Amino acid sequence: MSVGFGHIVPKRIQRTPQAIIMGSKKGGTRALIEFIKLHPKVKAAGPEVHYFDRHYDKGVDWYISKMKGIVPNSGEIAIEKTPAYFRTPEAPTRVYEMDPSVRLLLILRDPVKRLISDYNHGRSKHLEPGNNYPTLEELVFTHEDGINTTYSRLQRSIYHLHMSRWLVHFPLEQIHIVHGEKLIESPWTELNKVEAFLNITSEISENNFLFNTSKKFYCAREVRSHGVWQHTREKCLGRSKGRPKPPISEGTEERLSDFFKPHNRMFYDLVNREFGWPASDT
Ligand code: A3P
Repeated sequence: MSVGFGHIVPKRIQRTPQAIIMGSKKGGTRALIEFIKLHPKVKAAGPEVHYFDRHYDKGVDWYISKMKGIVPNSGEIAIEKTPAYFRTPEAPTRVYEMDPSVRLLLILRDPVKRLISDYNHGRSKHLEPGNNYPTLEELVFTHEDGINTTYSRLQRSIYHLHMSRWLVHFPLEQIHIVHGEKLIESPWTELNKVEAFLNITSEISENNFLFNTSKKFYCAREVRSHGVWQHTREKCLGRSKGRPKPPISEGTEERLSDFFKPHNRMFYDLVNREFGWPASDT
């Protein structure tokens, strides 16, 4: 603790995070971390850290140096999000070896919607004038009318494959799955469940959000005080979140949805929970 100008400034420390948002890419991870940060006890690292996938050789002190400081024994929680962890085969063992009690958060949405969003993300990065980018159909379907299961953006949507690797090390109760569609419709409802999972008081409510009609998403409502004046403004996610949809041929979504049905069933059985995405019968 240090004392300056008459008030006590609590000493902050950096440590390994008590919670990690481990995926999934395009599931709504940025919205999740920005919204849970509205909670006064949650201290979130800004950019994606990529320790357990890309930078593992840099060591745990490097990882800790990327964390926001917290006040020890104050109930504050350090958190980071790196969506690539979910599908990185080495990540579950590495996370477990660092801290077997860490709380894991995973946000998932309909695998077809996630795949289209992931494709759109790749496409928008390569769509400079004069550049061509393959159509979604060219990437996901084979010439023999099958599904191209080697396409990595499609593999990322086969949730049970990735989830089963995490369950080797962590019990289901230690992994909270946020419903991606519900986070879009009613962020505060999903965030209240996250608060309960993180064992922090329930602070986030509908009052923290404003619906932005041009973005068609909820944005965080920020209240700033200037002396006696209070000023409200909305803080929306950037333009890369909630992109206009890419061109897709008729029937593509249906074919993809049929492909994912047995995989979704396997995922539901694995986590003992249904998410409302189309699935084969049990
Ligand atoms: P789209 O851009 O395809 O609509 P991630 O942050 O993991 O990359 O996920 C991006 C997705 O978050 C967006 O995909 C969008 O659908 C979703 N999302 C959820 N809540 C959002 C919000 N409040 N504002 C913007 N995007 C949100």
